[in-house]
Amino acid sequence: MADFKEISPDAPAGAKLMNWVDNRFPATKMFKEHLSEYYAPKNLNIWYMFGSLSLLVLVIQIVTGIFLTMNYKPDAALAFGSVEYIMRDVPWGWLIRYMHSTGASAFFIVVYLHMFRGLIYGSYRKPRELIWIFGCAIFLALMAEAFMGYLLPWGQMSYWGAQVIVNLFAAIPFVGPDLALLIRGDYVVGDATLNRFFAFHVIAVPLVLLGLVVAHIIALHEVGSNNPDGVEIKAKKDANGKPLDGIAFHPFYTVHDIFGVSVFLLAFSAVVFFAPEAGGYFLEYNNFIPADPLKTPAHIAPVWYFTPFYSMLRAITTEMMYVLVLCVVVAAALGVLKGQLAGLFKAILLGGAVAVVAMMLSIDAKFWGVVVMGGAVIILFFLPWLDNSPVKSIRYRPTWHKWLYGIFVVNFLVLGYLGIKPPSPINERVSQVGTLFYFGFFLLMPWWSRIGSFKSVPDRVTFTAH
Ligand code: HEM
Repeated sequence: MADFKEISPDAPAGAKLMNWVDNRFPATKMFKEHLSEYYAPKNLNIWYMFGSLSLLVLVIQIVTGIFLTMNYKPDAALAFGSVEYIMRDVPWGWLIRYMHSTGASAFFIVVYLHMFRGLIYGSYRKPRELIWIFGCAIFLALMAEAFMGYLLPWGQMSYWGAQVIVNLFAAIPFVGPDLALLIRGDYVVGDATLNRFFAFHVIAVPLVLLGLVVAHIIALHEVGSNNPDGVEIKAKKDANGKPLDGIAFHPFYTVHDIFGVSVFLLAFSAVVFFAPEAGGYFLEYNNFIPADPLKTPAHIAPVWYFTPFYSMLRAITTEMMYVLVLCVVVAAALGVLKGQLAGLFKAILLGGAVAVVAMMLSIDAKFWGVVVMGGAVIILFFLPWLDNSPVKSIRYRPTWHKWLYGIFVVNFLVLGYLGIKPPSPINERVSQVGTLFYFGFFLLMPWWSRIGSFKSVPDRVTFTAH
């Protein structure tokens, strides 16, 4: 009781209530620590709105998801009909469902932009490695969440998409077939699959996602935001210990973010009300047909946000395996000839390369496709240790780095486009080149990120008031 803060009996009722709460729960303390006395760099630009927009979409998905669950039936015989019921008979059901389906695509749009911001400003570098790693884990969880949610309407694309992706796991040597069986709960995608995907989609993965988002933000508030100049604002503080280039998150960035939220909601509402299918990209036409295990659709493609990775999966043909083997051989040869390694390490490197090549040639290309697709996401976790550039932000990097990042984006979009299209020889060739570029960008980053003439980074952030 000794620590209780007394308040004047004449204080306003609101102040008395806050005092009562603060003596029992650190409400004001937390408000100060995370908002009114949390200092963020004053030069944050619109790229910094996508974090709060991701939070907004997360809330939209959880709230609309709860209401959808009230009328949805996770049963192979009833699921499709229950979604139609939500769309036609449940009051405002169509709105809730379209908000949820549009929200899924919106989530990936804002998260991809949010990740790209991290990439160009070097936000993953020391001391923000853990913010980035939690972010990558969020991205993985988000992919799992979207994949399992997509099965629930039990349309043709839900069914066959799940069939294709779950069968990929069967390509893993030794454990694959049992693993695929475990995921499906049956020998084909069926009622058992729908039930377990429902459980994961509505509770298990959202819990993980929420936990990771909390960890992501705790880590962010521990070290503070990076900024477009990549200058650490904590290095220059005033006499009170407040960063010279910092401004209070509240009210400055709360207002900034409310503006971002308003623009986002305009675009979001336009899609929800006027084009919820978004030309078949947000809701695929084939998914308005009930799942039919006896009729495979002519062309099975995942939703747009998975297609860059799907393209990489399809790029790995037997022929492509020879190119990959060549890459491993060249990398090992360079390591042995150019790397300053002790004899023992050279022998280990050579032995490792021989073992990898032997494995690559003896296991089916389909499996390596799965490895490449998974590797394309996993490699992001290592970004903090791949980038050796002397500066963080793209602003102070050589001009050709900017071009390289530009090509990276175009390449990712092209891979995404190819993943939507039916397979063809030219499509296959382009996606193979795109896959090599994607991995080359990351794997060769320790080398190329150091090359070129870097501009000198200022001591303080650059900012012109407007
Ligand atoms: C549900 C998904 C996510 C939510 C709600 C979320 C939320 C946030 C918020 C609110 C911020 C601070 C504001 C800002 O800097 O934009 C932030 C920063 C950051 N996020 Fe995320 N995030 C998510 C996903 C991701 C992903 C997938 C990555 C990367 C793989 C990532 C990497 C980062 C990084 C590196 C920062 C620090 C940026 C800087 O200081 O320059 N986040 N996040």
